[in-house]
Amino acid sequence: MMKAIEYTEYGSPEVLHLTEVTKPAQKDNEILIRVRATSITVGDLWARNFKEISPRNFSMPLLLWLPARMFFGISKPRISILGSEFAGDVEAVGRDVTRFKAGDSVFGYRGQSMGANAEYLCMPEDGMVTIKPINMTYEEAATVPYGALTALNLLRKVNVQAGQKVLILGASGGIGSAAVQLAKYFGAEATGVCSTAGLDFVRSLGADKVIDYTREDFSKNGETYDLIFDIVRKSSFAQCKDSLKSGGVYLLASFKMKQLFQMLWTSVRGGMRVVCALSAEKPGDLDFIRELVKAGKFRSIIDKCYPLEQTAEAHRYAEMEGKKGKVAITLGV
Ligand SMILES: NC(=O)c1ccc[n+]([C@@H]2O[C@H](COP(=O)([O-])OP(=O)(O)OC[C@H]3O[C@@H](n4cnc5c(N)ncnc54)[C@H](OP(=O)(O)O)[C@@H]3O)[C@@H](O)[C@H]2O)c1
Repeated sequence: MMKAIEYTEYGSPEVLHLTEVTKPAQKDNEILIRVRATSITVGDLWARNFKEISPRNFSMPLLLWLPARMFFGISKPRISILGSEFAGDVEAVGRDVTRFKAGDSVFGYRGQSMGANAEYLCMPEDGMVTIKPINMTYEEAATVPYGALTALNLLRKVNVQAGQKVLILGASGGIGSAAVQLAKYFGAEATGVCSTAGLDFVRSLGADKVIDYTREDFSKNGETYDLIFDIVRKSSFAQCKDSLKSGGVYLLASFKMKQLFQMLWTSVRGGMRVVCALSAEKPGDLDFIRELVKAGKFRSIIDKCYPLEQTAEAHRYAEMEGKKGKVAITLGV
């Protein structure tokens, strides 16, 4: 048996409770990982309370809300253990595994299949899992994959180039904090937009400039950008037009049908483009991020860390506004 945080009904953080469940056993192509740290992402917060997410406040088009609702469960959760990111140690390997051995420290991403808020999990050796960089703690490594993989995929779709000016809306969040660092890595000048509380955090990630959206409207300061990356759909194409250079790109991580039509229209018309993109990460992307971490080009800053037993408290904290880093869950060493 193993400890895990389970939930059997949708709701506020109180639905999360510590329990004992059957320890998984690895298949021939899988590794069994003793989880040392996991995290809270927006995906965990949504999955915990998906019943309250109507098509209107869902961040994607209605066509994607229905499959998401069916995936997470119509009236009660279909997956009982949350947690998409993890770092830990390989405890055992299946008979066909060649990439890993017992004792390896690894980190990885389970995406929507979740299950990392537990002492053990299994991953296929060719899944989204790789060796943990030694210059990161388990907690830091467990807060890297979601934001880094999503930001990397979306920035690659618009081919960010050295010397470009990039504006990131939502720079203090999971994806935005990675986008700031990756834009810098690709040689762009990065400006991060967030609230007052997150300004120092975003600066510490290497942003060349920061804008506090509670005090300044980025679209009225006369600056122009090659790329405006809006992660949380807090702007509109109409608002951004004067802030985009000619041929500039307005990239959206969250979008509705309206933005999809704008993408179609701007791709036909030419000039400034709207791009709505979904991340489709591959295992090689995690190795790419690991190399950036090893080279000191990518880091993760923990705002707060909670023991597994206090996962409900961690959800409460993660739901508050004004992020100053990641929320990690530690399972001890
Ligand atoms: N396209 C894809 O493949 C894909 C994949 C995963 C997720 N997503 C989307 O990404 C979104 C979640 O991103 P995330 O995980 O980075 O969220 P997150 O961690 O909650 O971060 C969102 C950030 O946005 C900031 N923010 C709020 N209002 C803002 C404003 N008006 N201007 C600028 N920043 C503002 C918040 O800062 P304050 O708290 O300081 O206000 C917060 O730090 C969801 O909508 C999800 O649908 C897309």
